Amino acid sequence: MSLVRFLRGSKLLGQCKTIPGETIVEHAIIAGIEIPTNCTSGNCGTCMITLLSGKISLPEPLTPGLDEEIISEGARLGCIGVPTGDVDVDLLPPI
Ligand code: FES
Repeated sequence: MSLVRFLRGSKLLGQCKTIPGETIVEHAIIAGIEIPTNCTSGNCGTCMITLLSGKISLPEPLTPGLDEEIISEGARLGCIGVPTGDVDVDLLPPI
């Protein structure tokens, strides 16, 4: 079984089983954690989190909420990013 874990710094705030096709925001709701959202379509960046380990999908082409530089820092968008396998996420954006 794969897990999505939600951390802030080194503190584990919650976790849930990885559900294929569901976004990070949907996993957070199941884990009892609220990730703030606004557009829910990858444009505003409100839902930005930091990928610590594992894989979260990126939109193609990139939406206005992301650019290559911030992605290289680990930024992903919770409203459209879908995790695969074991994934650790920090609830704060990278910058
Ligand atoms: S809520 Fe706007 S980019 Fe995710």
